[in-house]
Amino acid sequence: MADGATSRPRVFVSRIIPSEGLEAVRSACEMDLWEEELPPPRDELLRRVAGVDGVLTLLTDRGDDEFLDAAGPSLKVVSNYAVGFDNVDVAACARRGIPVGNTPGVLTDTTADLAWALLMAAARRLPEGDRYVRAGSWRTWGPLLLLGPDVHGATIGIVGFGRIGQAVARRAQGFGMQILYHDLQPLPASVTDPLGATYLPLEELLPRSDFVSLHVNLSPVTRHLINAQTLAMMKPTAVLVNTSRGPVVDQTALADALRNGVIWAAALDVTDPEPIPRDDPLVGLDNCLIVPHIASASRATRGKMAAMAAANLIAGVRGESLPTEVPPP
Ligand code: DGY
Repeated sequence: MADGATSRPRVFVSRIIPSEGLEAVRSACEMDLWEEELPPPRDELLRRVAGVDGVLTLLTDRGDDEFLDAAGPSLKVVSNYAVGFDNVDVAACARRGIPVGNTPGVLTDTTADLAWALLMAAARRLPEGDRYVRAGSWRTWGPLLLLGPDVHGATIGIVGFGRIGQAVARRAQGFGMQILYHDLQPLPASVTDPLGATYLPLEELLPRSDFVSLHVNLSPVTRHLINAQTLAMMKPTAVLVNTSRGPVVDQTALADALRNGVIWAAALDVTDPEPIPRDDPLVGLDNCLIVPHIASASRATRGKMAAMAAANLIAGVRGESLPTEVPPP
């Protein structure tokens, strides 16, 4: 509910975001800001959203019916600080007439850069090489030391050919790669021809790809899309890169596949759960590179995401249409 004394809308912001967004929210709203490094515990989140006009959520906050009930009828908008919105029940919001905002576009190239960094690092074994040097194991130049596949000229299979998948394809073009893609359906030639990208069903793309990079939304259809069966379709020399969402990959099956040589290596920006427990089998595998969900983590991009999330929040509490609204299902 708008604050009576100032009649400014009341909002809850669930973490400190870059000033490009935070200052706009601060000047337009009565802002309750969660300032801790870790996300608000569930009961605290539910308590803090009670009676607010808007909430700025992160992918670590679950925006479901319970959350919406806790916020109550004053809630006018949920603005998610991410392009992905699997943490928000968009259908439940739509039933209550609450728009959901996200931050598409601004993180496309930054995320594709990180996917590319993971692909290169896994192929050329950079983390292993770094660990080798720091452990004092480097004694001479070795003809067989830390060999990996070539990236240039190889075949990449891009699963999910939206904005980020296409941005990865542009990087692959620079490396002279053959580009295959899979999506719900083939995209228009006006999109795929300039990228030299060929559509294939998943079961044909996987056996032909030296690198498989995942760029799908998390949905019931894509949960565990990469599982024991689909891993078995991949080349034993293949490298799997995941910058989408952790649950797209069945991690137990991936650990088995990496341990048993079903595929050669994996590089993950996202895991299930996050953070991945230290005793997860993947953490103990040298051929699995894991970073802590940092694909959009450039200073400039996180600033742009903050500005967009703030713009969505402020528009929502004012009853205006959101600049970037997630289409209701
Ligand atoms: C997103 O935006 O969905 C990323 O996972 C975090 O930047």
